[in-house]
Formats: sequence, C-alpha cells, structure tokens
Amino acid sequence: MDNEKPSDKKFHCRIGIRFQSFDPTRCFPGRVILYRGQFMADKEVRPNRILIVDDVLSMQRLLSQILNDDGFYTDVASDGEQALDILRSKDFDIVLTDIGMPVMDGLALTRKVTRTMSSDVIIMTGQIDQYSYDQMINLGASDYIQKPFSPEEIILRVKRVLRERHYKNEAIRFHEEKAQSLRLESIGQLAAGIAHEINTPIQYIGDNTTFIQDSFLNMNQLIETLLDLLEAARKDRVDKEMLSSIEAVVEEADFEFVIEELPVAIDQTLEGVSRIKEIIRAMKDFSHPGGENHSPANLNNCIKSTAVISKNEWKYVATLELDLDEGLPPVRCNPGELNQVFLNLIVNASHAIADRLGEHTSNKGEIRIATRQKDDMAEISISDTGSGIPEEILDKVFDPFFTTKEIGKGTGQGLAITRSIVVKRHNGNIDIHTDKDRGTTFTITLPITDKETT
Ligand SMILES: Nc1ncnc2c1ncn2[C@@H]1O[C@H](COP(=O)(O)OP(=O)(O)OP(=O)(O)O)[C@@H](O)[C@H]1O
Ligand SMILES: [Mg+2]
Repeated sequence: MDNEKPSDKKFHCRIGIRFQSFDPTRCFPGRVILYRGQFMADKEVRPNRILIVDDVLSMQRLLSQILNDDGFYTDVASDGEQALDILRSKDFDIVLTDIGMPVMDGLALTRKVTRTMSSDVIIMTGQIDQYSYDQMINLGASDYIQKPFSPEEIILRVKRVLRERHYKNEAIRFHEEKAQSLRLESIGQLAAGIAHEINTPIQYIGDNTTFIQDSFLNMNQLIETLLDLLEAARKDRVDKEMLSSIEAVVEEADFEFVIEELPVAIDQTLEGVSRIKEIIRAMKDFSHPGGENHSPANLNNCIKSTAVISKNEWKYVATLELDLDEGLPPVRCNPGELNQVFLNLIVNASHAIADRLGEHTSNKGEIRIATRQKDDMAEISISDTGSGIPEEILDKVFDPFFTTKEIGKGTGQGLAITRSIVVKRHNGNIDIHTDKDRGTTFTITLPITDKETT
C-alpha cells in the first residue's frame, strides 16, 4: 500500500517520532492489563481500539505510533470504503478520520458510522476554515481536531471521547440489563391483547361444543327410541302410537341438520384449538429464556411468533404481510432478544400507521416483514405505510428516552434497546429509510455466524 502523497499535506509535529510496527500480540487478554490505553474496566479487559483513516501513509504511521505508545490498539485504512470493510469485521471504539480522501471521504464515512455503527468518530482536518466545529458535531462526530496537533493533544482528545463513551455505554448497559425483564414485561403489557386473541376461538369452541352436546342428547334419545322400536318389532308389538312417538323424536332431533352441521362444528372446534395452541407456542417462543448464549435459530419462526402475539396491536390499523425467505439459514443469535427487537419495530410501525390514519380508522395501512440472505448476512426489513420520521428527529430516535408519543403510549426505550441488541449484542447493523407521509423501513443486518466478539 503506497499511498504517500506529495508534500502538500505537511504534518507539523513538535517531537520527533521513530516508527515501530505494532505487535498485535500485545492485545492478547491477560497481557493487556499493562497498557495505559486500556481505559474502560470492561468485563473482558482489552485495550481500546482506534481505527485510523487517512490516505497519507506518514500520517497513518505517526498516529499509530502515538496511540500504540499510549497502549491503544490501532488499525489503519486509507479511505472510507476500506474503513467500513474493517469495521464490518471488527469493533472499534473510535474512528479517527481525515476528511479529504479518495473513494469515500471522511464526511461520508462519519455519516455512515454514526448512523449505523457503535463507534465514535473524531474528525481531523487541516482545512479548519472550510468546516465549522458545529457542522462536524451535527454530522455525528464526537470531536473535531485541527491539524497540526501535538501527540499530547491527540491523546487528550481521544481519552476525553473515551470517557464520554464510557458513561454512554454504562447507560446502555443499564438498558441492556433491563431488556430481559422488559421482554417479560412486554408479555404482561400484551396480555390483554393476547387474552382477546384467545377469547375469540374459545367462544366458538364453546358454542360448537354446546351444539355438539345438544345434538348428542337428541341423537341419544333417538337411538333409545329406535332400540325400543326394534324390541317391539321383535315381539310383533309395533302399533300406530309407537310410530308417531318415534316420528316426533326424529323431528325434534332435526336429523338432517345435525348430520350436515356436526362435521362443520367439529372442524371449527379443532381449528380453534390449533389457533390457541399457536398463540401459546408463540408466547413460549417469545419469552424464550435466552440467557447469554447464542445458538442457531430460525429467524422466520421468531418473526411469525412475534406477529402472532402482537396481533391485537396491529390488526385494527394494518394488514401484516410476511415475505420470508424459506431458504434463510439458521442465524446464531439470542432469539429472545431478537423477538424483543421485532416486537418493538412492529409496535412502532402500528403506532405510525395509526398516526397517519388519524380518525379514518376504516382504512388500513400495511406492515411488511421480509427476510433475505445477503452473502453471509441475514437481512430483515420491517416496512410500514405510516407517518414517516421527520428529518429533524431522525438522528435522535435511537437515543434512550426519546419519544414523540404521549405519556402512557411510549417511554422512548424501544429503539435504544433495539439498537443495543442488534449492534452491540449481535454485531449487526440497523438502517432507517423514511419518507414523510409514505412510511418507514427499518433494515437489520445480522451476521449468520458470529464474527469476532469483543
Ligand atoms: N416506524 C416508525 N414510524 C415513524 N416514527 C417512528 C417509527 N419508529 C419510531 N419512530 C419514532 O421514534 C421515536 C422513538 O421510538 P422508540 O421505539 O424508541 O420509543 P417509543 O415508541 O416512543 O416508546 P417505547 O418503544 O418505549 O414504548 C418514536 O416516539 C417515534 O417518534
Ligand atoms: Mg417503540
């Protein structure tokens, strides 16, 4: 990789630095305890990881040297595209990026990383007059450093962002711990809806069973009368009176109607029983105990279960279409956590559709859930024909406690939990595409098999 640029980008460094190649074995757990770059006391201690993105080779080397000397693990990329490739296979705490680069510049990279990944971004530039601090922060960057900078300054800025990140992660961790209890709570909140869903088949099972019971009593009476007739015929004692009493019983039994309706009543009863079985199976799957371990799971089944238990949330405002790729291989995941994700997105979609429909409740919107395999990733998209997300709140929707809903309808935790389950716990991505008044699509991509976990 020879991407050294001519001397138009001079780096003014106040101390002389000798480049040493970084020894990756230094980041093996157990040895990392020695490093100053280990900023956070994580469960599994590791040095913080910085991805340096710059098209100037000398700058890459210099920054690596400064950061490695302070105990940080670093990796380098020469443009935005290369950085995204590295980020897709490994987690980094901070992306330290230049702005002007070929293929994909630092601004596009920042936008992509801050919207879809969990790393913080620090932007460095020599053209401070071209871009304001506010512009960079609004883009999603956590800090903005002017070149030239001293090694002390870069270390200070990196540590400041890591400290903020640590507090933010603590808050997220708190939400993650709540995720499991929330899943069970959701069952509680959905209980009224689920009870209603079970009540409908229970009612027709009850009505049909009463009909079957009445018919059986009438048939029983008819059989007894016919046995009496047989007995009388054997003794040659059948008289007119006996025949007319038998005719009355046959009429009372409405024999033809019973013969026609009995199989229908039995079919409907069995259908009701299987509907209830389906709801109970979905409830069991949904409240999957999960634990910490990931295991291969059929995501299509997770989606079907969640659609069943949330039916009372969406059926009054939307139809739900499932377009599931039956060839999707099992995905290593925590199915209970992903059920929570699907539930949050389905409930949000229903609310957005209800918002858009307003009073016109006779119309219905549409929720569409599709699964596809894309190379070694599983893609799940949940689309709605709801109100859409206004541009000005788009980058806030994942913030904990951000909600536009009235008290009692939303707490603003759904998407914060969704993002932390997808990104932090499953190394996945979540993307939003939204059109005001046309609807929103949330697209989740998950690795089919686990990649390196940190
Ligand atoms: N599909 C969607 N369409 C339109 N707006 C949405 C959609 N999903 C989320 N939002 C917006 O994002 C905000 C945050 O969503 P989030 O799920 O985190 O919280 P909530 O739904 O308000 O509350 P909670 O999920 O905790 O009950 C919502 O209040 C809403 O404004
Ligand atoms: Mg929600």
